[in-house]
Order: sequence, then C-alpha cells, then structure tokens
Amino acid sequence: MPASHVANSSRTLFLRVCSIVALGASFSIGLAQQPLRTLIVGVDHRQTTSLNGPWHYLIEQPPARELYDDQGNVRDSGYAQNTRPNISTGPHNSEYDFYAAPTLKVPGDWNSQDPTLFRFEGVVWYQREFQFQPKPGSRTFLHVGAANYRSFVWVNGKRICQHEGGFTPFDCEVTAAAHAGTNAVVIAVDSTRHKDDIPTVSYDWFNYGGITRDVSLVTVPDHFIDDYDVHLQHGNVFSEKAARTLSGYVHVQDATAGTSVTIRIPEAGVNKTVTTDANGRAEFTADASSLTLWSPASPKLYRVSLASGSDEVADEIGFRDLRVDGTKILLNGKPVFLQGANVHAEAPLRGGRVNTDEDVKNLFGMLHDLHANFARLCHYPHDERMERYADRDGIMLWSEIPLWQRISFDKSDVYDKAVVMLHEMIRRDRNKASVIFWSVSNETPNNPTRTKFLTDLANEARRTDPTRLITSALIGPKVSEDQIRQEDPLMQALDVVGQNEYIGWYEGQPEEADRKVWTFAVNKPVIFSEFGAEAKIGNHGGDHDRWTEEQEANVYEHQFAMMRKIPQVRGVTPWVLMDFRSTTRNIPKLQDGYNRKGLFSEKMEKKKAFEVVRKAYEGHTIGKAE
Ligand code: GCU
Repeated sequence: MPASHVANSSRTLFLRVCSIVALGASFSIGLAQQPLRTLIVGVDHRQTTSLNGPWHYLIEQPPARELYDDQGNVRDSGYAQNTRPNISTGPHNSEYDFYAAPTLKVPGDWNSQDPTLFRFEGVVWYQREFQFQPKPGSRTFLHVGAANYRSFVWVNGKRICQHEGGFTPFDCEVTAAAHAGTNAVVIAVDSTRHKDDIPTVSYDWFNYGGITRDVSLVTVPDHFIDDYDVHLQHGNVFSEKAARTLSGYVHVQDATAGTSVTIRIPEAGVNKTVTTDANGRAEFTADASSLTLWSPASPKLYRVSLASGSDEVADEIGFRDLRVDGTKILLNGKPVFLQGANVHAEAPLRGGRVNTDEDVKNLFGMLHDLHANFARLCHYPHDERMERYADRDGIMLWSEIPLWQRISFDKSDVYDKAVVMLHEMIRRDRNKASVIFWSVSNETPNNPTRTKFLTDLANEARRTDPTRLITSALIGPKVSEDQIRQEDPLMQALDVVGQNEYIGWYEGQPEEADRKVWTFAVNKPVIFSEFGAEAKIGNHGGDHDRWTEEQEANVYEHQFAMMRKIPQVRGVTPWVLMDFRSTTRNIPKLQDGYNRKGLFSEKMEKKKAFEVVRKAYEGHTIGKAE
C-alpha cells in the first residue's frame, strides 16, 4: 500500500522521490551514486545549444552486458567509456568504436529510422561530441525532452544522471564532467518493458524506443530559476472588469533566503519584486490591471519575464480560471462543453513519435477539421510543442501520465515512480493555459489497492497544482439490462469523471446504445473519454459490416444519440483521431500492426465517421455546457 506522501514542498518530495525511484526500478543504484536531478522549467524559452542531429549508435541485444552487470547494476566501464580502438597500433583495447558506427537522427525513435530496429526492444547506445567553454559562475545542463524508457548519461566517461519514464523531460548537469574544447556524451536508452514500470509490460500503443524529443545544452548562472508558477488566482472572474490577482511562486536553485526575484508582465501592468525563503522559493501575488483571460475564442498569451540575480527567463502564459460547479465545467466562470478527440503522439504521414512543428501542425489541423475545442493527449505527456500550439490556438487539453490499466498498484516504489512522473508532467506544463485536466490513469481495475493508490495520486496532483481539474478515464460500470451505472469509488477523488465504453464494437451492436440509460454515483461532470470502432480506410459495406467505414460511422451516430440523453455529459473524445501503430493489433489486411479506430487513417485520410463527428461538433448537438 503506498505510503501517503506529504512533502514540505513539492520540490523536496520531487528530488527525494527521484532517488527512491532509481532504487525501486529493476536496477539497484545506491543512493550515493544517484545524482539528484534538476528539472528546468521553460528550457524552450531559454538560450540553448541544440544537440539535435546525427548521433552514432550501437545496438545491444538483451541482456545488455555493456550496460548492466550480473546483478542488474549499471556499469560505468562498458560502452560508457567511449574508448577508441587502437586499430593500427595495438595493443587491442576495445571491441567497439562509436566514431565508426552509423548514425540515428535525434530526436527520433529508432524503430522508424532503421528497418532492422523496427521491432527492437532493448538497449541502444547513442554518442556524439560537443564543444564546451566553461564560464565561471555558470552551470551547464544537458536537457533531454524525452527518451523511452530508461536513460543513462555519461560525459567524458563520467555518469552524470539517469532517468526513468518515456515521456517527460530531464536535465543532467555536465558542468563538472565537461572540459574546455571537445567533449563526448554517451546516452544508453533501454526500451525494455518491466512489470513494475509505468506503463507496465503490455499496452495498446507501439513501444517506440530512443531519444524521441529534442536534446540541448542549457547554460545558467550558479543561482538560476528552475521552476515557477504564474496563474490567475481563483476569484470573481464573472465580470469582465473584475480586478485580476495573479499568484504563484518562483524557485531559484540553491538561492539563500532573501534573494530577490522580479516578476514582470508589462502588458498587464505587473512589476513585482519578492524574496526567496530558506528553500529558494519566492511566493507572490500581483494585481493585474486589465487582463484578457485565455479562452478558445481568445487564446491571449502574455509575455512573463522572471529575473533573479543574473538569471532571466521569459515565458508566454495565458491566464484563465477553471472550476467545477456541480456537473458543470466553468472556464472563466462560463460553462463549457468539450468536444475533441483522443490523440496519440504518432506522427501523421511519416509515422514514429511526434517531435516536429510539422507533426504538431498536422495533428491540430485534423482537430480543426473536426471543429474540436479539446483534445485528450493520451496516454502520456506529449512533446511540449503540443501544449505550446494549443496555448496559441485555443485548444483545451487533457494531459495524462502513462498509468495504463494493470500496473503494480501494490508496490510503494511504483507509487513513488507515479509521483515522479506526475510531478515531471505538472512541472513542465503547469504554466500552459491550454492544459485544463491532469489525468492520473486510464482504465484501471476497480479494487481497494488500486483505489487507495490512485486516490493518493489524485490528491497529490491537486496538492501540487490546485488550479486544474483532476480526472481519470474509468471503465467497467455496473450493467443490468439497459441500465448502466458507474459507481467506481475513485470518482470521489476526481473533479471530472472520464468514462470509456465501446458499445457497438466490443459490446453488442451500435443500435443497443439507443436503449442504454447511464447514471453516475457522483454529481460531477462526465467526459466520455473513449468510444468508437475500427475501420480500414477504403473498406466499404453496410452499417453492420464490421471493419467498414460505414459501420464505424454507424457506431458514432448511435453513440451520440445515447450521450444526448445524459445530462451530466460535459465532453466527448472519440477514440481516436488517427489510426496508430500498436504492438497488439495484428489482424492481417485489416490492422497490420495498427489500431484502426481513427477518424483519419495514418495518412490523414478522412473516414466516413469523420463527417458524423464533424457535423455533430459544428452543430454542437451532442451535449450542453449547462
Ligand atoms: C482502451 C484503451 C486504449 C485502447 C482502446 C482500444 O480503452 O484505453 O488505449 O487503444 O481501448 O481498444 O482501441
């Protein structure tokens, strides 16, 4: 049973749990070896040196003896040493040579880059050189946007950090390990799945491995701003003219108490100076004169600049107010109805993990075609470009940690891992107005151990970020005949209930949805977070011929007719925007390794179901905001 985690500050817990997680994973790294990691917020708005581009790579089949010893401990003496073989002079000294090895593009999963690696799950070693010029009074970090699933980082043969989790960023300090001139960085990425990982060993998406998001070097002053939160204080936002109070905090790494921090938002008339406490954290409130609130109709972003000592970071932040009122979701005091789609981080057209502006533009283009105002970024934190685009474009987002179905709910180190992933997700995106929901899980079994685990996690999410709504996608309501009643006790810990169901695909015929009467044991907003059917693009037939576009479209007609009768439905996200690769979908000629429930094919071709959804969204005919 997970311990209840109450920390005197989310940062302290974050760092402490990082070290616990490394112990709990499938390799045991002593606390002493586990360098505590920083996580720098707003790196995409800092001056950085990109390390994107070709990296040499070497493949290691399991059991990956260059990375792990017989006890599963990480070795520093293997490929990590980046030894060059004395080919001509001898004596023979090395069985590998990164400099002569082929290259992979970073960012990019290895599966979609090298056909021999398409189904590879194991360890790939990456290596490249970089130039460095030490600057007195500054620190330099290697920033990795994401690498799936475990990562180990060495600079000039010294291990500088490791990270577990395939979808959140991490920063490793290189200052002490790097020297003036040419340096070598080696990163081992292990995509092997383990029972006590999050997600666990089986899930319905493709296990893309590798350094899947941007890599850069970021140099900051000795005392720098690594974390901040600037948000609109809950208040009277009903009247356009109401005074607006902003509040939040700025954290300055290693700052002594009394260090001054300035928050400037020129366009909102904010220029406030506060001082840090003994933990380097400066809390503030600031009155903003005329503030235009962020909303889909007017996704206003303000330039916010934070400064302390010689450090300054600027960000683009939107201010809005979110709350629940009974079964209503209120954005800036006004009820909203969320109509969107589930989006996996699969690159349209080219396949592989999303990590370019083009990928993001294509995904949001399909959402726009649907007249969507919302998207569930399933089932893990996506590339930060998605939130930045949604902030600018006015699309609201559901963001989720990859706690999918049956993880090891009975293990406290797995709970600690979930807390780290939750903190990393919240820390990176807490200043993104588009993110309105934090989701702690998807389709988990309703039993006391899981409910305690997820209730703790939902409370931890709310404690860490009280400005957002906490949700989870549930499954398995009680069914008797046509009465369907969701009584999952986890709903007590949620602000908004997500409900997945597949009437017409996994359950019965599409028309059965017409007779269903849904009730929920809580008076809270409900989002139908998954529903749909599979269809191969171009496969046509009658409304009941499965795997045809017509049958998929028929499912949506009846699903929407059912949802219109449920008063507390405040949002819908069909499963799924676009067909996506999955290791569990292997019916030849129909799936061929893809989950085909997309409204679009993986080549962005519209299926008939797209038009059913588009029309319903354009006409706002599915549900009411109040
Ligand atoms: C589940 C699950 C999805 C999965 C979908 C399906 O609800 O949440 O990740 O892809 O069903 O079966 O297609």
